[in-house]
Amino acid sequence: MKTVLITGASSGIGRATALRLAREGHHVVLGARREDRLTALAKEIHDAGGTADVYRLDVTDRADVAGFADAAVEAHGRLDVFVANAGVMPLSRLDSLLVDEWDRMIDVNVRGLLHGIAAALPHFRRQGSGHFVTLASTGAHEVVPTAAVYCGTKYAARAITEGLRQEAEPGIRVTTVSPGVTESELADSITDPGAKAAMAGYRAVTLPPDAIAAAISYAIGQPEGVDVNEIVVRPTAQR
Ligand SMILES: NC(=O)c1ccc[n+]([C@@H]2O[C@H](COP(=O)([O-])OP(=O)(O)OC[C@H]3O[C@@H](n4cnc5c(N)ncnc54)[C@H](OP(=O)(O)O)[C@@H]3O)[C@@H](O)[C@H]2O)c1
Repeated sequence: MKTVLITGASSGIGRATALRLAREGHHVVLGARREDRLTALAKEIHDAGGTADVYRLDVTDRADVAGFADAAVEAHGRLDVFVANAGVMPLSRLDSLLVDEWDRMIDVNVRGLLHGIAAALPHFRRQGSGHFVTLASTGAHEVVPTAAVYCGTKYAARAITEGLRQEAEPGIRVTTVSPGVTESELADSITDPGAKAAMAGYRAVTLPPDAIAAAISYAIGQPEGVDVNEIVVRPTAQR
């Protein structure tokens, strides 16, 4: 049984990951801004016989994320897995100049990830073990129009996580999971009408979020000496 912290657990992939890992007997600590959603999810987990804590956090706030990790260690004595999952995707072409949305993607998808590493790494080093899981994207492997900034943040997430893998001492495992199109609320943040219309077609075929949860479960379920570094999971029909 591991203590697993998940950012962005209030919907989509984070929620599915919490449900699956709790079902598999792990203790999950649920982080996001929408605390009502987290409380309802924790109740669902408890009713099914699992255990979960709720922690309200904004990943753009470094102190919030540090508090998330510290509180888990205080309550459970250790932090085994940190899933850096929170992300936003308000797509648009660069010439739309929706610069505030660019900033938000950088703040959540890049700074939020760095805050997670800063929060988890001291505990992992003290313990001599730990597993950091980053949710990147197939957008960390290719760029498409309207997704320049989003893909930029996901290339960055993948690069930073690979750097963490190379620098981390033995005992610390590091995994990047790159989902293809997956059913979630991610596209709801798109305000640009052109990007929104394009996404309707692009997202017509989706994976259930539990398909990504299963990949995360596979990575953390390996024996200690086995480090699954990268997993890409697409719907069969996605090119
Ligand atoms: N779905 C896909 O097709 C797909 C494909 C590739 C990669 N991904 C990646 O998978 C991850 C999960 O996304 P999803 O698809 O499950 O989307 P989602 O349903 O929109 O979930 C995103 C989660 O991130 C949280 N979040 C957003 N901003 C936050 C902040 N400032 N602080 C804390 N939490 C924040 C949200 O919680 P609150 O709003 O409650 O804070 C929510 O729980 C993201 O990193 C995304 O880029 C998704």
